[in-house]
Amino acid sequence: MEIRRTPLYYKEDLALVHHLGFGFHADLCAPGILTLLDPIRERDGLVVELGCGSGLLTRHLVDAGLRVIATDASPAMLALAREHVPDAEDVRQVALPDDPIPSADAIVSVGHVLSYLPDSQSIERSLIAAAKALRPGGVLAIDLCDLEWAETRRNDPPSGRIGDDWAIITEYNVPAPDRFVRNITTFLRNKDDTWRRDDEQHDNVLVEVLRVPHLLKPHGVFTKSQ
Ligand SMILES: C[S@@+](CC[C@H](N)C(=O)[O-])C[C@H]1O[C@@H](n2cnc3c(N)ncnc32)[C@H](O)[C@@H]1O
Repeated sequence: MEIRRTPLYYKEDLALVHHLGFGFHADLCAPGILTLLDPIRERDGLVVELGCGSGLLTRHLVDAGLRVIATDASPAMLALAREHVPDAEDVRQVALPDDPIPSADAIVSVGHVLSYLPDSQSIERSLIAAAKALRPGGVLAIDLCDLEWAETRRNDPPSGRIGDDWAIITEYNVPAPDRFVRNITTFLRNKDDTWRRDDEQHDNVLVEVLRVPHLLKPHGVFTKSQ
């Protein structure tokens, strides 16, 4: 029997806090990604999004007229995405690195989704799977945590944010040069005005992103400058 090593991140409470308070990254990425996807939209191509979360980037893509299959590992995130982007082509579970990636004209992913995989081999395997799932003339747009990320965040003090009905506190830890660990505590207001607490530990694997173009070149994916 195969044992799946990828832990489940983003249970219900953190998924909701992400949706309510962490849309800024998808909002900032959307204009650049939409520009890259102009040729895909012109030919009515299909976009597959990996780690769509609650559908924050998906909303931008679908609003721009793109056909999108939004995928994620977390059932809680997928439930939010189905509500937030009911007009996506599909919202379905794809847990990397083991689940197959649907074939597409473009594959996009923001919010360092692959950095959640258990090791660099799983990240490389998923990048190659994405390259192979791309149809000819396709576009791959993906962000990953670089090794430098740990260096810049190494001494960060714990941080906190609050909204009307939620709060989040995050502690940072760099146990190895290629690991970035966050201990995340969320508080959400219940209907009876009491509060509930949940905790997650996010263990991200950092890679040398400059190696990625060399990894993908034999699989037919070239950066614009190659
Ligand atoms: C930081 S969130 C980003 C979500 C969304 N892309 C955004 O920008 O709002 C990372 C996402 O990666 C997903 N994820 C983590 N591990 C995954 C895996 N093994 N396969 C697919 N998705 C995964 C999480 O469930 C979560 O939705």
